[in-house]
Amino acid sequence: MELESDVPEATTALPEEPDELAEIIELVYQRAAADDTGDLADYIPELAKASPDDFGLGVATVKGRLYTAGDARKPFSIQSVSKAFTYCLAVEVAGREAVLRRVGVEPSGDAFNAIEFNPHTRRPYNPMVNAGAITIAGLLYSHLGAGAFDFILDRLSRAAGRPLAVDENIYRSEVATGHRNRAIAHLLLSVGALSGSVDAIVNLYFRQCAIRVTAVDLAWMGLTLANLGENAITKDQVFDLQAVRDTQAVMFSCGMYDASGSWAYSVGIPAKSGVGGGLVGVVNRQLGIGAYSPLLDHKGNTVRGVKALTALSEELGLHAFDCTKQGSSIVERFLR
Ligand code: DON
Repeated sequence: MELESDVPEATTALPEEPDELAEIIELVYQRAAADDTGDLADYIPELAKASPDDFGLGVATVKGRLYTAGDARKPFSIQSVSKAFTYCLAVEVAGREAVLRRVGVEPSGDAFNAIEFNPHTRRPYNPMVNAGAITIAGLLYSHLGAGAFDFILDRLSRAAGRPLAVDENIYRSEVATGHRNRAIAHLLLSVGALSGSVDAIVNLYFRQCAIRVTAVDLAWMGLTLANLGENAITKDQVFDLQAVRDTQAVMFSCGMYDASGSWAYSVGIPAKSGVGGGLVGVVNRQLGIGAYSPLLDHKGNTVRGVKALTALSEELGLHAFDCTKQGSSIVERFLR
């Protein structure tokens, strides 16, 4: 069993306070916790060692207040949640046009590990599925070389407000079993979407997926996206503003794999999930939300995390197109 994260979080966060928002978050947490359906991912053997009971929730506001429930400080591997952040970095480093030439922004409607490209462009459908994320890793590698991973880790750490590290067991487990991703990478090479060393690029991708985070980290990282790329506590401008916009757009349309359409329709929050059980939600200019529970539905999304974010969206009016009388969201009054 994993210990709680031992690296301190940004210390200047406002203290947690019982208020109406805290009550709603606790209620949502308790309801979602009662659902014990879903399965642990086991295609990366190390992931099957997670504890099915784990469930944590973190919500961070642009004013620097943090709300938590359950195992919010339990570490797990970020997996595909990293794809949103590496896309953001690639747009900054390589420029939007260069990124768009290599990876589209259309939902694929297929599983995250589909060996499939857009037949018209011969490019991956979007950067949130494996083929797209490996292409993004390739772009970062072509610009930054051997320093690419440290660059990614540094930016993700600054977004989280504390130094993050790699779970070496998860990394090794994926290196030992990631043949499908290697196949995808070779196919990308064959159509010219990727260039350079497949091994180096795939290992970069495996390593970014093995970064260890907590639900609290994901809440702060999501908040950094929500807060125009600036960490709300440290005031560090972590991400490029234009890239943040592009990232949220692609999270909105493609972040939940082949459940992305129904997610955008019913939850309406840019989000990204991972097979480690993590889920990040970005409520622009308001909140970052992080959830962790390793039991996954058949599309690879965390069951309790999806339940919790769905309920939070409903309870707090977080849907991007919410049109209640209060305005876009009732959270607004907690942000003054
Ligand atoms: O590519 C893989 O298999 C993983 N490292 C990441 C997959 C992932 O999280 C997709 N999730 N639903």
